Amino acid sequence: MPRTIQKHIALLLVAPALLAASFSASAYQAGDAIIRLGAAAVDPQEDSGNVDIGGVDTGLTVGVDSDVQMGITGTYMLTDHVGIGLLAATPFQHSINLNGVGKLADIKHLPPTVTLQYFPLDSKSGVQPYVGAGINYTAFFDEEFTGANKQAGFSDLELDNSWGLALEAGLDYQLAEHLLLNASVWYADIDTEANFKVGGVKSSVDVDIDPWVYMVGLGYKF
Ligand code: NI
Repeated sequence: MPRTIQKHIALLLVAPALLAASFSASAYQAGDAIIRLGAAAVDPQEDSGNVDIGGVDTGLTVGVDSDVQMGITGTYMLTDHVGIGLLAATPFQHSINLNGVGKLADIKHLPPTVTLQYFPLDSKSGVQPYVGAGINYTAFFDEEFTGANKQAGFSDLELDNSWGLALEAGLDYQLAEHLLLNASVWYADIDTEANFKVGGVKSSVDVDIDPWVYMVGLGYKF
């Protein structure tokens, strides 16, 4: 046989072995990037101070409800076991309630979170649990009192943005070479001060929102 055909036959014989090798090495390793999309829920575990109106302690506290949005997370593997993780989402919207009175205002926020992640299992494992720790930045915007509260003299609502610690745990389950199922949970330390006016009088309340964030979704490994 001509040498070129011999080479082609050799390649044909070797190709399945190369393919098998690329499959078995398809699990997590340095340089991999994973993108995950899914439903993300923010469930505040709020702890409110008392509402202060013009220096007078009203004894009233506030509550924050939960919300679900589209979450997107990414991991870039620095080594076979350590990655950098990012959490992003479409803006979350929450009601702020005056406890015992009723709904006070609506707010929106974006809570981008960066973590250093540790994947303890062998890089060939099709199941990859991980834990992470890092920093959450929460930006509040579109803070607005409800119409009735505006008429009652509430105005100028503004929530301080927050920097805080974030902890995370998650699991990637490989469905196919590139496709995976993901479930993950974060705890974020989000503390803010809400400043506003009542009848023109400066008022405020400290709120630790400190939510659990849950996400379930599909991922793609590049
Ligand atoms: Ni806190």
